[in-house]
Amino acid sequence: MRSHYCGTVTQSLMGKDVELCGWVHRRRDHGGVIFLDVRDREGIVQVVYEPDATQTFHLAEKIRSEFVIHIKGVVRERPDGNVNPNMATGQIEVLGQALEILNYAETPPFPLDEHQHVGEEVRLHYRYLDMRRPEIQQIFKMRAQVNHALREFLEHEHFLEIETPILTKATPEGARDYLVPSRVHKGQFYALPQSPQIFKQLLMMAGMERYYQIVRCFRDEDLRADRQPEFTQLDMEMSFVNENDVKTLSENMICHLFRSVLDIELAQPFPQMSYADALEKYGSDKPDLRVPLEFTSVDDLVQDVEFRVFSGPAKDPNGRVVALRLPQGCKLTRKQIDDYGVFVSRHGAKGLAYIKVNERDAGMDGLQSPILKFLTDDVAQRILERCGAETGDVIFFGADSTRIVNEAMGALRVQLGHDCDLLQGDWAPLWIVDFPMFEKNDEGGWDPLHHPFTSPAADMEALEKKPAACLSRAYDMVLNGFEIGGGSIRIHKMALQKAVFKLLGIDEEEAHDKFGHLLEALRYGCPPHGGIAFGLDRIVMLMTNTQSIRDVIAFPKTQTATCLLTHAPSNVSQAQLDEVGLRVQREHLKAQEEA
Ligand code: AMO
Ligand code: AMP
Repeated sequence: MRSHYCGTVTQSLMGKDVELCGWVHRRRDHGGVIFLDVRDREGIVQVVYEPDATQTFHLAEKIRSEFVIHIKGVVRERPDGNVNPNMATGQIEVLGQALEILNYAETPPFPLDEHQHVGEEVRLHYRYLDMRRPEIQQIFKMRAQVNHALREFLEHEHFLEIETPILTKATPEGARDYLVPSRVHKGQFYALPQSPQIFKQLLMMAGMERYYQIVRCFRDEDLRADRQPEFTQLDMEMSFVNENDVKTLSENMICHLFRSVLDIELAQPFPQMSYADALEKYGSDKPDLRVPLEFTSVDDLVQDVEFRVFSGPAKDPNGRVVALRLPQGCKLTRKQIDDYGVFVSRHGAKGLAYIKVNERDAGMDGLQSPILKFLTDDVAQRILERCGAETGDVIFFGADSTRIVNEAMGALRVQLGHDCDLLQGDWAPLWIVDFPMFEKNDEGGWDPLHHPFTSPAADMEALEKKPAACLSRAYDMVLNGFEIGGGSIRIHKMALQKAVFKLLGIDEEEAHDKFGHLLEALRYGCPPHGGIAFGLDRIVMLMTNTQSIRDVIAFPKTQTATCLLTHAPSNVSQAQLDEVGLRVQREHLKAQEEA
C-alpha cells in the first residue's frame, strides 16, 4: 500500500510521487488549506490539501486525530518560513492528491503529543495508544537493535541459541515461584522458571559447549522500579572456562552492544572491586561509580565518645559509623540539610548528623554542627583529617546497624551526586567479585548469596570448616548503580554439590526431590563450566535513559503485579477450577465477588 515510510520522505525525493500510510498525528486548517501531520513508525510528514482539489479537500476536512489514512501525493519544498529544521522531514511537504480513510478513531483518552505528561495508569490501560507515541516507539526500536546486536555477537562467538522449558520444576533464585496447576496430574504443579539455571548447566553436560537464550524469567517478589515479575534475561553458559573467560567475553559483548547501538566506546577493561570494598566504600554491592563520593569509616574514632548515637554502633560488631564528605557542601541551606535528614529516614536511618567546615584552619571555631558538643576537639579533628575535609565542605554521618547505614548513606551518596551535579562521565561499568558464598538468614542458617550451584573459591575442607569466611566464584556486572548481570563458575563435582546443599540445610531427601535430575547428571561426566545472565530490560532501560523498567517492556505489570490492559490476574470459572482439581478458599471467594 505504501511506497515509503512517512519519516523517510526527505529532500532526496523532491518532485517524486509517494504513497504513504499512517495515523493522523495532528490536523490544522489554515485559511482554506488543510495540513495533516501523518505519522508511522519511522516518523511524521506534513501533507497539504488545497481547496482546488474539491473532493479530497472535503474528505480532508472530515479527518480527525488518529484516523488511519492512505494518501498519494507529490513531494515539494516547503514555502519559506515553514521549514522545520528539527524534523527529518522538515524541509519538505507532500502535496496531497488522493486520500483514503482506512479507519476512523474515537478521540484518544490522552493526546499522543510527545510533550504531554500522562499518568502511568492511563498509559498502561491504553498501552497500544501509549506505544504510538514517537518516544516510546524509539525505545522499542532500540530494544530490537539490542537483541540483534547481542545475537550477532554471540553467533560470531559460536554460541548456540537453545530454548529451555517454561513449564518446569522450581529453580531457586531467591524469589517465590509462580505455579501452574496440572490438569492431567491433579494436585500437582509446574513452576515457571526463575531462570534457566539448571537447564543451561544440563546443556553443558549435554556437550553443547556454548549456549545462549533471550529468555523470559518469572519471579514472584516485591516489585520496584527495576524489577518486574516477568522479565527477560540474556542467559549464557560456557564449558571449559574460568571466571576470566566469562568476564572477558561478557565485557566484549557489552562493548559491542554499546558500540553498535549507541556508537559509544566503553573503556576496557572494566574496573573490578571486591564485594567487601564496595560495601565499605559505597554501602552497596552495585555502586554508581559516576558519583565521586565515598564513605569514610570512623568507628574506631568514635567508640568512646559521649554521644551514644555514635559510640553504640561503633562498638557493635553488627553496627557501623560512616562519614560522607560533600565537597563545598556548606552551600546547602539548613532546609536542604533537613530534607536530606527526611530522605535518609525513608531508608531507615534515625537521623543525619553533620558538621559544616566553615573554616578548616580555625579549629573548633571553624566548625558548625549540632553534634560538636558531644565530641572532643581531638576526635572532631581526626575525623576531619581522615575525610580529607577542606574549608566549605559538609561531612554527613550515619550511625546504626551496618545494614541501615549502608542502605541510607548509600542512597544519600547517590542523591547528593545527582542533586549537586557531581556525576563524572555517562557510563560507569564495573565488576563486583569475591562475594561471600553464604549469608546468615533470619533462622540462623545459611542462604546462598547467589544460587546453590555457585562454586566456592575454597576447597571442600575449608568450606565445611568455615562457611562464613568462604568466598564464591561469582561475579556481577554493575552499570551506573544497577546490577545488570550476574553469574558464576558452577560446581561440577557431585561431592561438592552435596556438601553445599548440606550446608544450606537441604538434606539428602530434599536434595533428591528438588535437584535429583541435576545430581544424577553430575554422575555422567560433567565438564567444568560457568556463565552469566544479563537483565535485558535493565540494560535497555539504561541505554534509553528511561526511569523505570516498565517503560521498556511492551505490556508491563504494575507494582502490584497486575496488568492494567488485560486485568490479569483474574477469576476463572468453576469448570476450569474443577478441571485442575482446585478449590478457592472461602475468604478469597468473597474477595472475588467484591472484585
Ligand atoms: P540473577 O538472579 O542475578 O542470576 O539474574 C540475572 C540478572 O537478571 C536481572 N534481574 C531482573 N530484572 C528485572 N526484574 C527482575 N525481577 C529481575 N531479577 C533479576 C538482573 C540480574 O543481574 N541464573 C542466574 C545467572 C547465572 O548464574 O548465570 C541468575 O538468574 O539484571
Ligand atoms: P539527637 O541528640 O538525637 O538530637 O541527635 C543529634 C544529631 O544526630 C541530629 O543532627 C540527628 O539528626 C543526628 N542523629 C541521630 N541519630 C543518628 C544516627 N543514627 N545516625 C546519624 N545521625 C544521627
